[in-house]
Amino acid sequence: MRQVKVSDLKVGDTIACDVPNLHGQVLLATGTLVGPKHGMILKAWGITDVVIAGESPALSEPSPTAPPVVAVPPAEPSGEILHPAMAEILRIAVEAKQAAVDKGGKPAPPAPPPGPKAKISPAWQPVTAETVATRSGNLASLPTIYFQVNSVINHPSSSTADIAKALGSDQSLSARLLRIANSAFYGFPRKIENIGEAVRIIGTKQLHDLVLATVVLKQFKGLDPGLVNMADFWRHSLACGLAARCLAAQRREANVERYFLAGLLHDIGSLVIYQQLANRAQVVLEQHRETNKSIDELERTIIGCDHAAVGGALINEWKLPPLLRDVAANHHSLDPRFMSVGIAMVHVADVLVLSMGFGTNGETRAQRLNIPAWDSLGLSPSCLPQVATDMTGLLAEAQKLFLTEDKA
Ligand SMILES: [Fe+2]
Ligand SMILES: [Fe+2]
Repeated sequence: MRQVKVSDLKVGDTIACDVPNLHGQVLLATGTLVGPKHGMILKAWGITDVVIAGESPALSEPSPTAPPVVAVPPAEPSGEILHPAMAEILRIAVEAKQAAVDKGGKPAPPAPPPGPKAKISPAWQPVTAETVATRSGNLASLPTIYFQVNSVINHPSSSTADIAKALGSDQSLSARLLRIANSAFYGFPRKIENIGEAVRIIGTKQLHDLVLATVVLKQFKGLDPGLVNMADFWRHSLACGLAARCLAAQRREANVERYFLAGLLHDIGSLVIYQQLANRAQVVLEQHRETNKSIDELERTIIGCDHAAVGGALINEWKLPPLLRDVAANHHSLDPRFMSVGIAMVHVADVLVLSMGFGTNGETRAQRLNIPAWDSLGLSPSCLPQVATDMTGLLAEAQKLFLTEDKA
């Protein structure tokens, strides 16, 4: 083996050591034959050196600075990764990681230390998504305040004052909504003084979605931190929601908050699985780290259904708008028969924020961009830097607004 500069790589060379990107995702797996486009991919990620098979008179031993070995995913099919939109996402991801390093940020956290290995139990029977969602106890229903506000909003004779009164019955909720209304999330030029004014200015549909986002984020508590880092999970979900909101703004969609919510909830089924089927979830996560299989694929094998289906079933149980259910249920299958603007936007947002390293639901590898989904949006790749900038600019504030615990 020998280490060579990326600029000296030749077509036909064999990669002898996995080449990870800045957050540990493998770009070229050990054994990959170098193709004509690989040099460009590695340069897009800012990688300067790789280890290849074969002896060199100048360097017969591998360099001690060879890249670390990480899990091996399937090699990217050539052509897909270099779609202009994916190339733009890769470039944005490199810049984001570089910016984090420049700011003194730490690299992506290492995988948790191997504890006792989880074992598949012969007693485990496949379960349906509906079963997992409906037996999730307190999660299976949303707090009463949501239904109270929702029924007032949907009542044809309700006035702004009625909606404000319903919201005012939960002081911590209305205080949080006021903080959101007065944040960079909306960027209104003057201060919104009370919840009635917020209803008038923000609009009832958007307000409904903000109420929903606020109550859902409080639903999931007390999950095993060994399985899921909740801060990381919500960072991923918020970033995905914000990126979907920015994509919706690029497309001039009417209710961008609906897409924020769709992104926020897309992986919600993961939390239900972590809560209801912790042992199986542990096997899924271990096998995900050790193999090239995706989490949703392993969930289908080990549990009988994946987090997308569970999320769809839970949102159905909550009787939320069909768009939210469809996005959650289809965000991995991306079946062209069920494709919609919402599913496509959340998929693109998911790929973007995972590539940028903004949290995770447990996935350790970036996903590939589904080109038909991207094409269905009719956007130019040149809008992606703006989407990434706007999303990044709002993320820290969104974390504060939605995740900070109420003071007792
Ligand atoms: Fe997912
Ligand atoms: Fe996700």
